[in-house]
Amino acid sequence: MVPLKRRRTGSSGTGSSGSGCRDKVPNKFPQVVLFLLERKMGRSRRAFLSQLGRSKGFRVEEELSDSVTHVISENNRGDDVGAWLDSQVCRWTPAHLLDVSWYTESMRAGHPVQILDRHKLQDQPTNEAEVEVFSVPSYACQRRTTLENRNTVLTDALSLLAENAELSAEEGRGVAFRRAAAVLKVLPEPVTDMTQLRGLPCLGEHSLRVIKDILENGASSEVESTKQSERFKALKVLTGIFGVGAKTADRWIREGIHDLQQLKDSRPTLNRAQRAGLEHYDDINQPVSKAEADAIGQVVEEAVAAVLPGAQVTLIGGFRRGKLSGHDVDFLITHPEEGREVGLMPKIVSWLESQGFLLYQKTTRNSYLESEDGPARPCSNMDRFERCFSVFKLSEDEKRRAGQTQSRHASAEDGGRKLWRAVRVDLVVSPISQFAFALLGWTGSKLFERELRRWAGHEKTMSLSSHALYDGTQRTYLRATSEEEIFAHLGLDYIPPSERNA
Ligand code: UTP
Ligand code: MN
Repeated sequence: MVPLKRRRTGSSGTGSSGSGCRDKVPNKFPQVVLFLLERKMGRSRRAFLSQLGRSKGFRVEEELSDSVTHVISENNRGDDVGAWLDSQVCRWTPAHLLDVSWYTESMRAGHPVQILDRHKLQDQPTNEAEVEVFSVPSYACQRRTTLENRNTVLTDALSLLAENAELSAEEGRGVAFRRAAAVLKVLPEPVTDMTQLRGLPCLGEHSLRVIKDILENGASSEVESTKQSERFKALKVLTGIFGVGAKTADRWIREGIHDLQQLKDSRPTLNRAQRAGLEHYDDINQPVSKAEADAIGQVVEEAVAAVLPGAQVTLIGGFRRGKLSGHDVDFLITHPEEGREVGLMPKIVSWLESQGFLLYQKTTRNSYLESEDGPARPCSNMDRFERCFSVFKLSEDEKRRAGQTQSRHASAEDGGRKLWRAVRVDLVVSPISQFAFALLGWTGSKLFERELRRWAGHEKTMSLSSHALYDGTQRTYLRATSEEEIFAHLGLDYIPPSERNA
């Protein structure tokens, strides 16, 4: 048996920090009285975990006493903890000697989870070789990322840090967190142990620290404090206004504007997009369902058929990848005869406007010219398609016509209820010669696209945009009429849209 240091009764494992917060939240689980063993856990970690438990309504004792029902320890064997308890002057046997994994899982669940065998302290250390180790290719475009994600707790945390970095003009850090999250999205099992991550690509020091925090504590202190930070909350609220980017939000925050009321009170000069964004704020920030996307698709089809018969409409963006909800709806429009698509967008927009479907729209012209944007500047990945950013007015009628809601007509019961909602809709027109590139470029995810371009540049000396693929070695454009051909040019296995959810 390992000899254990004798400690003063009652003070063993005690850290003074944290006791001040003890009474903040009522004890929600009276039958559970916890004691965290400092041995091997360390004082600051014990204080952090104790505080986390109390904030979730658990009773966590500073001192060991006979009211304690669950003793939680970390990296200790059952026989070690038993010996330690024996060494204490107050002698009794607590009901449960548990590993910290039971505690962190309970924190995550918000209540004491059922005690399983794996939570009980073992007398033998667990064999590391039994832990499954994963292996994953480096580029997201080499991987199949479905919507099924076994590690949402970890990926949500990393995505939040990515979002915070992006909103703070720290693009590099944002990408690093996005890449790390994308690697975790393809793992076939939930990560339970840091050793499983050995050798995985894209997991930098910072991301690993966040993951470790969550695996060990049930939460990452950095993520929790970011979520609570006034600045992050204000950035989220303000950039939730369509037409407001991180820069504008940052300026407003520096002027003391943190929420919509303060914004309205301070009467800043808003452009047309921002005025529409503010007016339809709640609708635009409510997720769009697949049913709503389909209903809008039918309207767009109708518009396109009316102004240019034979033109084709394709749903792109997240919905093409099989997502069931999105922040907007994206459509790509083309015509099988090259050139027929010229001037198409203004006609579609006029039709939609005449039918009362648009609450806001701004159309930008196509400015892509191969001769100018090609070999001279092969790295540009700016999109120069004819494009329309809009806020669509989707009525219950349209949803019904699309067969998406129960057949039910407006009646007196609807009195006062708004019978439509605003939805962000993006329309893109491409000539048929660029259609495959546009389709690939606009299906996303954003990280998948970024990784495709990184692969093309770093691994193939090629340059990929939503218009074309340029081969820097052969100094020539590579033509393609399908996404499959583009993957083949890039030397990649074809990944279907539903597996591009990186
Ligand atoms: P979205 O921002 O609409 O994302 O861009 P999404 O994947 O549909 O997810 P939601 O809408 O948040 O649910 C769709 C695709 O269009 C490309 C992006 O790279 C993404 O792959 N895109 C978007 C561009 O190429 N250029 C742009 O200016 C905007
Ligand atoms: Mn979208």
